[in-house]
Amino acid sequence: MFITPKQQLYSKYALAAALIFIWPTMQVHADEIALKPVKITMDRNTLQKGLAVYTDICMGCHSMRYVSYRDLMEYPELHISRTKADALRGENALTAPLKSPLSEEDAKVSYGIVPPDMSVLAKARVGGGAYIYSIITGFAHDPSGRIPDGNYNLYFPGHRIAMNDPLGWLDHDPGDEKALLEQARDVASFLTFISDPHQIERHNIGKYVMGFMVIITILLWLLNREVWRDVKHGLPDAQFQGRERRDSDIDNDQRE
Ligand code: HEC
Repeated sequence: MFITPKQQLYSKYALAAALIFIWPTMQVHADEIALKPVKITMDRNTLQKGLAVYTDICMGCHSMRYVSYRDLMEYPELHISRTKADALRGENALTAPLKSPLSEEDAKVSYGIVPPDMSVLAKARVGGGAYIYSIITGFAHDPSGRIPDGNYNLYFPGHRIAMNDPLGWLDHDPGDEKALLEQARDVASFLTFISDPHQIERHNIGKYVMGFMVIITILLWLLNREVWRDVKHGLPDAQFQGRERRDSDIDNDQRE
């Protein structure tokens, strides 16, 4: 293909413009610690185990204001039975939100801060599920010794966190590591799901739409080829190469 110098210039401009837009996304911020890699999955077993970790441990302090017991039953991905929902809610109404027994006042007294609501936490934080996973498996000893054990966290901004190591990660037995990581992954997956419960449905619809677009594109391409099949390309009448039209040419044009 022949490219004119003008076209070459334009393509350079286009490349430069693309780089200007892409460049900021390629920047790695030196002050950000990379989160722990984790495979967030949305299968029913993982989500149910994650819900159990949330209700058994995290809910001691963190509420989910925008999730009710009935919601848990109604999400087919979670598949929580009425009996299970009743057991979880106790005296609470089915339509009540998942509220921690820890009142905001008591939280302030104990931790100096109200633990953030978890309904949309995964969506609100950069890294989502991986951030949650990293935080709860990110307790360590402060190398400078300033921040007390249980409040030093590798992944929390500033490293000082008011939450006290909910899974007991610090100084855990090496034999327990696998189970703790699994608990962390399950609850991170559940919180990712609950922060956007229709994401699975949406992704599935997305796949159908993409498939539909591909099929439509192929059909249109075939149609286009069929429509233009008998049309000769090139300059008008170039096919006659300067000579007069003959009857056979007309015949040729009318061929199906
Ligand atoms: C004993 C109370 C308590 C329990 C139990 C608890 N948390 Fe927390 N959590 C807190 C408090 C308090 C904060 C606020 C920390 C801060 O801002 O310094 C917090 C903060 C967090 C944060 C950081 C939120 C942010 O603002 O970026 C995450 C993530 C988190 N908790 C996850 C969990 C998970 C998952 C569980 C269950 C496995 C859990 N927490 C159990 C008290 C608790």
